[in-house]
Amino acid sequence: MGGDERSALMECVSDLRLYLHQRYGLPLKARRGVDTPAAQPSDDSPLSTLRAELVDCRRCALCGGRTSVVFGEGPDRAQVMIVGEAPGAEEDIQGKPFVGRSGQLLTKMLEAIGLSRDSVYITNVVKCRPPENRDPKPDEVDTCSPFLREQIRIIQPRLLLALGSHAAQTILQTKEPIMQLRGKSYTYAGVPLIVTLHPAACLYNPNNKKFVWEDIKGIPNLLKND
Ligand code: URA
Repeated sequence: MGGDERSALMECVSDLRLYLHQRYGLPLKARRGVDTPAAQPSDDSPLSTLRAELVDCRRCALCGGRTSVVFGEGPDRAQVMIVGEAPGAEEDIQGKPFVGRSGQLLTKMLEAIGLSRDSVYITNVVKCRPPENRDPKPDEVDTCSPFLREQIRIIQPRLLLALGSHAAQTILQTKEPIMQLRGKSYTYAGVPLIVTLHPAACLYNPNNKKFVWEDIKGIPNLLKND
């Protein structure tokens, strides 16, 4: 079997595994001899096993231009889970979410509400960098978002924070603009969800910071009373 055939087969296997896991609760764990060595989970936790499913992902065209799959970062049992859009250049190089300018602002936003970056789980709708930082395409979001949903299911945060229109629209399955989505209460899979602007929107226009502050200032109380 050629390399292309083998990797196509491995993708089918891992798609099927994810489907069986989501539908019937079968274990996601990679099987020896089927996955590449790089696809082996580093431990047996569900999040590591899910990460291993993506380590060599070729499910959409974004794989062609990426340096790393940016799966997510933070404690497996974080109380707060933050969802952005897609990795940028710096994230692609480091393999970590929100480590560029938007990430620095996100860290400050979190500190303003008494949360350290290390205490939250951070990920994106799309795990690979779109070329030239363009918006992720609908097929890329559709391909990648089952992994986001699975991350949420595994982590079971007490609060979800969606940053920007792609995260909010993907989680809520809507096309409403972000300015209409923000400022309202939601739940996703039983988890309270707050929607706000992406930090990049605040870098682009600092006047947007007031909206973000309005949206996130109640988070400490939500976590206290939950
Ligand atoms: N913007 C995002 O949406 N995610 C990142 O990880 C970095 C920038």
